[in-house]
Amino acid sequence: MKFSSRLDKLAPYPFVEISRIIAEKRAAGADVVTFGIGDPDIPTPAPIIDRLLRASQDPPNHRYPETDGLPELRRAIAYWYEKRFSVQLDPDTEVLPLIGAKEGIGHAALCFLDPGDVALIPDPAYPVYGVGTMFAGAESHIMPLYEKNGWLLDLDAIPDGVATSAKVMWLNYPNNPTSATATAEDLAGVTAYCRQHDIALLHDAAYSEVGYEGYRAASSMQVEGAKEVGIEFHSLSKTYNMTGWRIGMAVGNADMIKALFQIKANLDSGIPQAVQEMAMEALTGPQDCVADNVAIYQQRRDRVVKALSSMGLQVAVPQASLYVWTPIPEGYTSAEFAARLLEDIDIVVTPGSSYGKYGEGYIRLSLTTPDEQVEKGCQRLESWRIPPPKGG
Ligand SMILES: Cc1ncc(COP(=O)(O)O)c(C=O)c1O
Repeated sequence: MKFSSRLDKLAPYPFVEISRIIAEKRAAGADVVTFGIGDPDIPTPAPIIDRLLRASQDPPNHRYPETDGLPELRRAIAYWYEKRFSVQLDPDTEVLPLIGAKEGIGHAALCFLDPGDVALIPDPAYPVYGVGTMFAGAESHIMPLYEKNGWLLDLDAIPDGVATSAKVMWLNYPNNPTSATATAEDLAGVTAYCRQHDIALLHDAAYSEVGYEGYRAASSMQVEGAKEVGIEFHSLSKTYNMTGWRIGMAVGNADMIKALFQIKANLDSGIPQAVQEMAMEALTGPQDCVADNVAIYQQRRDRVVKALSSMGLQVAVPQASLYVWTPIPEGYTSAEFAARLLEDIDIVVTPGSSYGKYGEGYIRLSLTTPDEQVEKGCQRLESWRIPPPKGG
């Protein structure tokens, strides 16, 4: 059988590989504690599940959904954006529900990029920006992110020729994997840059609702002129513990939303309507569950930061997102260090290199692990003596 060359260009998706290793270890009897994937362990709030139960009994919900979602859902998304960010959206032209943000992010590349085109991609980053670009036959121009810059973009480092030719720029704050945050001014700077160079700005705000000590992330849609140049991707996954239900949205520039709709209409048949009803409940119902989740993550964050600090790692305390991103000792690659943790103390973390070359030297720990597992994992970390690296 002859497969496409794009398959050869794909590295194994990091979490598929990690899940395989965990399954193998557990089958061999190991008591693995995983700080791997960012997948909330806390159940979806009861009112949202109740809505699903009711919606599942309604025969119209058993049929094909529309690709652009129920009008009530698009209105609920617009309502949430208004309430949360004071951003006004036209639910008919500026909102598109997605089968999770990942689906929209992957498909977005097909709206903008032809073979040979250039996309600006941060590194380290959520891998789907680069993979979508590759599927479209386009080239990624990497924008390195550095700790010394607070993991923010250095727009001056983008060569003029690249700025002129690039068609899209990906951006993600609060950031996965670094947990960095961007101010409204940072987002305004990037928006102005994209407007100046006629680049479509694709902002991924999947973690905007996970902020600690009262931190409230800005939306790129709050920037003046944002809708002229960009869309924002959002997800119900992390905010409402809904990763398993697969629902998110894109909002913003009406032409860009229409293009994404056109691609999707030819490739998928929308989100199950009962799941759309869950999202309506989540977005328009009481929001206490969000603060309750954040309080749980904040306690875990503090526990994990304490454990990593006691190991002598120079860990920054994240202000947002579900991740602790920490530098590792000299002499190790991030993959070697993650492998050591797994081999020595049955702890799973994600190597920074899974997010690109500039993630090397760091590991990411997800806080979506039950409290008692977090405690167990932290105790193991605290009592582990970091062995010298091979050849060190
Ligand atoms: C930065 C970022 N964007 C998007 C997603 C995907 O979200 P969803 O579950 O809505 O597909 C993730 C998932 O981990 C993510 O980390």
